[in-house]
Amino acid sequence: MRLLVAIVQPLFLWLRPEISHSLVHGLLKFTWFWKFTSSSFAMKETRLHLNIQTRHGAFNLDNPIGLAAGWDKDCKSLTSLQQLGFGYLVGGTIMPRYQPGNKEPRVVRNHKELSLVNALGFPSQGLDQVLPTLQKLRRNSIKLVLSIAAVDPDDFINSYLMVQPWADAVELDISSPNTQGLQLFHEKTALTDLLSAINKGKSKPIFVKLPQMTDQESTSSILTLARICLDNDIEGFTAGNTIPIQEKRLSTGRGGLSGDPIFPSMIHSVMELRKTFGPSIIINACGGISSPERAVQALKAGATTIQLLTAFNYKGPLISKTLNSGILDHIKSNNYTNVRDIYSSKS
Ligand SMILES: Cc1cc2nc3c(=O)[nH]c(=O)nc-3n(C[C@H](O)[C@H](O)[C@H](O)COP(=O)(O)O)c2cc1C
Repeated sequence: MRLLVAIVQPLFLWLRPEISHSLVHGLLKFTWFWKFTSSSFAMKETRLHLNIQTRHGAFNLDNPIGLAAGWDKDCKSLTSLQQLGFGYLVGGTIMPRYQPGNKEPRVVRNHKELSLVNALGFPSQGLDQVLPTLQKLRRNSIKLVLSIAAVDPDDFINSYLMVQPWADAVELDISSPNTQGLQLFHEKTALTDLLSAINKGKSKPIFVKLPQMTDQESTSSILTLARICLDNDIEGFTAGNTIPIQEKRLSTGRGGLSGDPIFPSMIHSVMELRKTFGPSIIINACGGISSPERAVQALKAGATTIQLLTAFNYKGPLISKTLNSGILDHIKSNNYTNVRDIYSSKS
């Protein structure tokens, strides 16, 4: 499998990002192939297991690595993605109704720094189209988080109620830099109203996806946002989204930076959240995690789990196994009993 990936991966990186993304979705339609080869991707190792209890059920993972929101926006390839050795997948972001997103070009690569800049603008088939796909999905033991967003509070609440039966947890995206309307939920009253309305029908844990903390000012405002979430019984955070930058190659002239360059901001965000809110909250570290060393660093900073997207695009389907092997080596060489010890011991 390593040889196959080493041959095929450069071809995908030579094609335009959205074309290669569609081609990979095409390959993932061959579900029998991914089931047949699943042992090449899986890591069966109890020291990587995470038992996470919440008031709304357990979120137990075979390993801490999750595929981040945005890779499978319409949840159409989850059956095959389940075979790639991740501990969990984040499907979505699912929008309330069909929307085409921004004009192309809307994703560009910076190969040297292993980054992407995207201004997709939430293309989505919409809830009506995605729900039947979710109903038909044959789940294996891996956990499924569904990401939703909306600019209208009633749409957001309705989306939560509609997706939660099919999810092990729901991620609320209030941080995509490409959709201005989401800023509404950075305001205290709007966020409190949204979360308290959702709480009335809540039966699954919720993670709120935060922006990255890039400086002192954003650190302080995002910690305030996080406090409002916790006051409204949210189980945890995904920290975090892409960082807005100017990018002339995109049709919109700006987009969200992801991949290796945002790793320092992500580590800072995770450390601040853990330091401020203590050991019980769930923190999904997300941003620039592309190597076992970076995965271990995120866990040491206080991450409960790890999510990635850009590294999956650059490094291909063995990324989860590569990271899990590195984490396991770290556990073994320090005589830890479990992945959680990486944070507790902080060696
Ligand atoms: C092409 C692309 C599409 C994305 N779409 C979404 C999305 O729909 N919802 C979301 O919450 N985050 C989305 N993200 C952000 C990622 O989930 C993640 O937070 C970010 O890329 C940082 O992680 P990474 O450096 O591992 O890619 C997207 C990122 C990229 C590169």
